[in-house]
Amino acid sequence: MKVMVIGSGGREHTIIKSLKKSPEITKLYALPGNGGMAADAECVAIGAKDLESVVRFAQENQIDYAVVAPDDPLVLGMVDALEAVGVPCFGPRKNAAIIEGSKVFSKNLMKKYGIPTAAYETFDDMAAALAYLDTAAIPTVVKADGLALGKGVIIAETRENAKAAVKSMMEDKQFGESGSHIVIEEFLTGPEVSVLAFTDGSCVKPMVSSMDHKRALDNDKGLNTGGMGTIAPNPYYTKEIADICMETIFLPTIQAMNAEGRTFKGCLYFGLMLTPNGPKVIEYNCRFGDPETQVVLPLLESDLFTVMRAVTEGRLAETEVKFSDGSACCIVKASHGYPQKYETGFEITIPQDLDAQVFVAGAKLADGKLLSSGGRVLGVTATAPTLAQAIEKAYANADRVTFANAFCRRDIGQRALAAGK
Ligand code: AMP
Ligand code: GLY
Repeated sequence: MKVMVIGSGGREHTIIKSLKKSPEITKLYALPGNGGMAADAECVAIGAKDLESVVRFAQENQIDYAVVAPDDPLVLGMVDALEAVGVPCFGPRKNAAIIEGSKVFSKNLMKKYGIPTAAYETFDDMAAALAYLDTAAIPTVVKADGLALGKGVIIAETRENAKAAVKSMMEDKQFGESGSHIVIEEFLTGPEVSVLAFTDGSCVKPMVSSMDHKRALDNDKGLNTGGMGTIAPNPYYTKEIADICMETIFLPTIQAMNAEGRTFKGCLYFGLMLTPNGPKVIEYNCRFGDPETQVVLPLLESDLFTVMRAVTEGRLAETEVKFSDGSACCIVKASHGYPQKYETGFEITIPQDLDAQVFVAGAKLADGKLLSSGGRVLGVTATAPTLAQAIEKAYANADRVTFANAFCRRDIGQRALAAGK
């Protein structure tokens, strides 16, 4: 079968490497992919948001199945467009992708169906938002409604900062139209857990849990990034907590989406906070997380393509989704200066005898050489029987993958190790 994966980052490279193991797939395309994936899939220079060209490519090349990985094309309706020409897809339709595309929608959904989340108010009028902040509890959290490249969330430690955040979103339009509507919500505390779950709209099968490290520097210092490393499983996410999440969050969310006529099929990402009052939803994403996928899929023992098609065809309940009992750790190597200003174009050296997988996020091929081309350049994932071993192995291998001006955090997984029993 001919399969195409839409997207170009480390997450997509991980999905492609997993799909490559499936005996049923004869040809893999990445649209647009990146130079670091070229050995695993044929990269086609079509942008992930270019619905028309993607559909045309699928038709001209008799694509049998499509995996739509990033949020933008899902929210734009890529799955609807491909299904309309008969291409089965992994990923939610537009009317379900709104669970990530609009925070106002997802907060109202949780309120309506009693799904635990931070208390909140929504605003589309700046004066009302500012007046509300005169009496709101501090710290507070200000969120732009729409997609904002993960940057539309501001945690304000003072009333003044909260008001400045509201103005930057609603008046200065720092995140464009995303900020026309905002959510102001209660500040929660507790360990964070990412849970990705396969769902076909009736059955939900969570994958192994994981922990992201969002800040740029060690000890959670520095600016927020797209993610500097991940570990799985997350030791805070015990069997007891998993059972509570299934009952109070996962199943109710699937049922709520059905009740709204917005059946969700694909990978639903639950960003959870384990608060003193129980697990609560911080955010939903309508897709695999990045870089969570880089530790979750390497632990998947079942065939990814089989599971994905079961999701599409509504057969998830009867399909085995098995994970290894081991642990995984992904170290992201980024360009010095990321997430702000950084230089690119440096040659990347990847030894042939690594005892780890390399998932390339930002690189291009030029004259047969692989050159850095992004802020986050690649992730190195190791798996091992224990978390401590996975961390050690990931760093030993990541240190052998080199390019000028590379940097990585040295403490990925340390908090999880300290929490583990
Ligand atoms: P998001 O982009 O929604 O994942 O938010 C980015 C980060 O902001 C999350 O990973 C949390 O660490 C933090 N965050 C978001 N909402 C809250 C909240 N209500 N209370 C505390 N922290 C939050
Ligand atoms: N790692 C968080 C995300 O994918 O949005």
